[in-house]
Amino acid sequence: MAQEPRILRTKVGIIGGGPAGLMLSHLLSGAGIENIVVEKNDHETIRNTHRAGILEAQAVRMLADSGIEGRVLSHGDEHSGIDLRFNGESHPLDFRELVDATVTLYAQNEIFVDLAAARARDGGDVRYSCEVTEILDVESNNPKFRFTDANGAVYEVHADILVGADGSRSFARRQMPQSTRQDFKVSYPFAWFGILTEAPKSAPELIYANSPHGFALISQRSDSVQRMYFQCDPNENVEDWSDDRIFDELQRRVAGPDGFELKTGPIFDKTVLGFRSFVREPLSHGRLFLIGDAGHTVPPTGAKGLNLAFADVKVLFEALDSYYSTGDDTLLGGYSQQALKRIWKAQNFSYWMTSMLHTPVGTDPFMMRRALGELDSVTSSTYGQQYLAEAYTGWPNS
Ligand code: DHB
Repeated sequence: MAQEPRILRTKVGIIGGGPAGLMLSHLLSGAGIENIVVEKNDHETIRNTHRAGILEAQAVRMLADSGIEGRVLSHGDEHSGIDLRFNGESHPLDFRELVDATVTLYAQNEIFVDLAAARARDGGDVRYSCEVTEILDVESNNPKFRFTDANGAVYEVHADILVGADGSRSFARRQMPQSTRQDFKVSYPFAWFGILTEAPKSAPELIYANSPHGFALISQRSDSVQRMYFQCDPNENVEDWSDDRIFDELQRRVAGPDGFELKTGPIFDKTVLGFRSFVREPLSHGRLFLIGDAGHTVPPTGAKGLNLAFADVKVLFEALDSYYSTGDDTLLGGYSQQALKRIWKAQNFSYWMTSMLHTPVGTDPFMMRRALGELDSVTSSTYGQQYLAEAYTGWPNS
């Protein structure tokens, strides 16, 4: 016989305990708004999932202002620019000079570790290895979801508000009726091959390289560990790539008459990352609200994913705080529209950076030259550089 679920009552039920769900939970608890977070994966799996590493100043401030600054300030690396490399030449952009802003390189999995530690320290109710199986009554004032924990025990969370923070394959998103929603998407004919290597830094700033052989990104993690990516086929098998083959491929994409050479070392992680642009509209239905990748996905070029998720968290947190302190749900009603403004700007930026820097296999030579013309227009003009710098470092809140 089916088990009777144990009932858990709270104000906000959060489905998904990645950075977006945990950040929202942390802010809500700080404002005295009770919440429960339920996450499908175990802590170790999320901790070992490598994602992007660039934080806009606003995201750093959000961590710092809410008391999670510890390691982002001491271990994060402030970057005041990037290098756009094309035709084998470097074109440095100085964000501080252009728009008086910087970004911080701090890996997303470290943010997860920091947020999870802060939630544990503050007595937050975060349950890992728990699978949500049903979401109920989101159109009523008493929405609920059911989940099963690692031991097979069944629970039902009764809340005022539910939040879907369960990533790009969101279960929460699928609960919204088809008749009231629209999905916007683009797929790309390439992916990224990402590696982590024990090597010194090859250059002071990140290098985004356009080459006839495809895109490469030379990023960093620390003085002794580097993160690099190169454009590849979406069906590439990482086992077919030896360390030497990987570095040869990366090197030929950054090579130029200046003799620039990558610093190499043993590779200890290899993954293929999919590429997709996706937006769900609206981001809410009844009492269910989507944040982060559950509501929208950007391709990785420009590292907007986590920044955008934190921007959603900020808008939703302010709306929830207003609702719980005044009973007025106007801001909650405006959440989707408000969040979507920034989401579409970031969608445009990520799409633009991707198309300008990548070379799809079999590209028309006209399109390759056109992309170089675009890169030249951006880098040879202060206005062009400022446009990129403002988007990369994050637009002011609108
Ligand atoms: C990283 C990833 C990105 O997509 C990007 O644009 C910059 C940096 C990274 O993983 O370091």
